[in-house]
Amino acid sequence: QRERTFLMLKPDAVQRGLVGDIIARFEKRGYKLVALKFMNASEDLLKRHYADLSSKSFFNGLIKYMSSGPVVPMVWEGKDVVKQGRSMLGETNPLASLPGSIRGDYSIDIGRNVCHGSDSTESAKHEISMWFTEKELVNWDSHM
Ligand code: CMP
Repeated sequence: QRERTFLMLKPDAVQRGLVGDIIARFEKRGYKLVALKFMNASEDLLKRHYADLSSKSFFNGLIKYMSSGPVVPMVWEGKDVVKQGRSMLGETNPLASLPGSIRGDYSIDIGRNVCHGSDSTESAKHEISMWFTEKELVNWDSHM
């Protein structure tokens, strides 16, 4: 079924010049870009985005890291994109990720795992609404 997911390229992806490569993987797979921006995320927004993890020992480090440089929040649409997107990313821990996946190809550090992806359609809706206004979700026909 057609659905949407929220993906966010993390500061390490931007700093290492991986933005184009990762976007290309989703385009080539056949997914449709609905929204994208390039920004320095505020700590307030990041704390809301990662609210579920606020009790974790790595929470403060995670927020500090995610606000250390620009990120690329994006919305992608297409068949089963939440689950397929997670599979294209690999496991949260890059060391458990297969080569061929984004994290399996580009990372060995759980705290620098290149890209975030929503874990369910519900969290996708919630995350999309945190990072984008309705107006920023672009309506267009990809002829696919
Ligand atoms: P992400 O998909 O953005 O969701 C939560 C993030 O927390 C995760 O990717 C990791 O970057 C980070 N994270 C999860 N576990 C750890 C950990 N043990 N140490 C540091 N960061 C972690």
